[in-house]
Amino acid sequence: MSLTTAELETPVPVVDLDRLARNLDRAAAYATAHQLALRPHIKTHKSPRIGSEQLRRGAIGLTCATPFEAEVMSEVCDDILVAYPPVGGLRAARLAALPETVRLTVALDSLAAVETLAIAAREADRAIGVYVELDLGMHRVGVPVIDDAIALAQAVCARSPLTFEGIAFYPGHVREPVGQQSVKLEELDAALGAALQAFERAGLRPSAVSGGSTPTLWNTHEVTGVTEFRPGTYVYNDRTTAAIGACEWDDCALTVLATVVSTAVPGQAVIDAGTKALGREPMRGTDSADGFGCVLGQPDVVVKSMSEEHGILDLSTTSWRPVVGERVRVIPNHVCIVVHLNDVIAGVRGDAVETSWPVSARGRGYTLPV
Ligand SMILES: Cc1ncc(COP(=O)(O)O)c(C=O)c1O
Repeated sequence: MSLTTAELETPVPVVDLDRLARNLDRAAAYATAHQLALRPHIKTHKSPRIGSEQLRRGAIGLTCATPFEAEVMSEVCDDILVAYPPVGGLRAARLAALPETVRLTVALDSLAAVETLAIAAREADRAIGVYVELDLGMHRVGVPVIDDAIALAQAVCARSPLTFEGIAFYPGHVREPVGQQSVKLEELDAALGAALQAFERAGLRPSAVSGGSTPTLWNTHEVTGVTEFRPGTYVYNDRTTAAIGACEWDDCALTVLATVVSTAVPGQAVIDAGTKALGREPMRGTDSADGFGCVLGQPDVVVKSMSEEHGILDLSTTSWRPVVGERVRVIPNHVCIVVHLNDVIAGVRGDAVETSWPVSARGRGYTLPV
């Protein structure tokens, strides 16, 4: 059956399949060129289908945040990192209950998490690898003091069947335009170098040093000691990623297809994509633009404000005057949130809708016991 985008109900997220393939290949080629292990974070796509593609193109495994993401990805992946503190017995037990065929590693930063995970691992009778998470500047999670991180790694070593596998950090504080990241990357390099030396002195050899993000993707090799990287957003990219130069505008693979529903108020056009389609996500790391998304091919035309089901396109920067009923494609500020708001994604080439896939790992994957 052949279908065109004109026949899709809007708003709907559509992925340009050629751009997606290009994005996957480019990161895989970068990993090969710099001898880095690519372990993409699946929080952006939440789909086993894309996860399989990442693995087929050379990813060594996948990164997840939630137990449900790990459960869903275990259908296609036998090497999963959960880069989120495994705090709480229920969360730890759920991770330990992943299929035995999965090599499971978990990043954590507290003794409480170590103890809970060790209990869950023992009860499930399975080995679980641990990365000790360091705070190297983001100040979100991660142990800030190296000696404390070493003590935590030693606590892991003392709690079989947990095994100390390495160090993790997330450079989420580096959001400058790609050409202006050198100061923060040098700081990161120095901080990581000091940590690695201290671990070495303590007789702890991390077999993996896991970092990486999409804003720093192409500079990952500049941080000495990193062995694996975990970009997520790069599969689809978004307005923020393009604005900081971590991708070209032509690399934005996911857009929200929307319909102009009103042009009654001069100077603007209203589309049927509001906060429930685009999310109310700010632009981060750039002061180049505000608004909540921009029109594909016309990055100056932005969604200047939104209600739940209305997005207001600001036409003051353009002579383009869309008419009621016209379709537009919006590049969202932050693509991960858009994916999370949807059950299904359409895959397109030009105007031809070739395929679709579910956002299978969306939500928490549990039912309440009452
Ligand atoms: C721990 C961790 N690793 C990797 C990523 C992927 O980063 P990005 O979305 O910039 O590619 C994230 C993103 O939130 C993260 O929290």
